[in-house]
Amino acid sequence: MTNKISLDLRIWRQESVSQEGAYVEYRIEDLSTNLSLLEALDKLNEELVMNGERPINFDHDCREGICGSCGFLVNGQPHGPKDATTICQLYLRNFRDQSTLTLEPLRAKAFPLIQDLVVDRSSLDRLIISGGFYSVDTGSAPDANSFKVSQDNSSSAFQTATCIGCGACIASCRNASASLFVAAKLAHLGQLPQGQTLRSERAKQMKKQMAAEEFGSCSNNLDCEAICPKEISSNWISWMNRE
Ligand code: FES
Repeated sequence: MTNKISLDLRIWRQESVSQEGAYVEYRIEDLSTNLSLLEALDKLNEELVMNGERPINFDHDCREGICGSCGFLVNGQPHGPKDATTICQLYLRNFRDQSTLTLEPLRAKAFPLIQDLVVDRSSLDRLIISGGFYSVDTGSAPDANSFKVSQDNSSSAFQTATCIGCGACIASCRNASASLFVAAKLAHLGQLPQGQTLRSERAKQMKKQMAAEEFGSCSNNLDCEAICPKEISSNWISWMNRE
């Protein structure tokens, strides 16, 4: 038997950054609890379109928790109430029947609003670019063992490489600091032999870019760690500062 759920949704609607926004209330009735929250929004959008209204704009791509495209606040929490879960992996069964959900965009100065639940997170792309790149003559495929990496370093680098760049850490931080994001990117490369070129320069440039994008400073409240859907440890922020 499929369980059904009905919810009241208070959704932030805003045509553009230059226009005023407001919460608009919608009711979704008798939906399967096996639907994801984004699928519930898809259904709501179908109804809005049928009624000649503008659909609710929200970001998504893979819907598998791996691309980092999705992300908005559910009851004030980036990605909603479930630990280690992106919003695209949040299902209606994660909510109580007849409850009210307030959906609003990620709030941070470096994430200007585009429309409704969509914000511009290109500041994260610019942070990555500021870390630089290096060119090598790759030649033919190298032998898999030509770069020796210890199991510990490999596992640790992989853990930081799981950062999907969703921006939840920034939206959860009272200072809108990008420290956990930058720390993850630096630690990913900095623990591998391939990342030693420009290692120190990369840290300095990314730190400089954080300030240029008007991300705040870290004050060790650690909301970033609590909210990260990939459970990246805030210990990497100390690691970054040593870099
Ligand atoms: S849509 Fe790709 S992580 Fe959510």
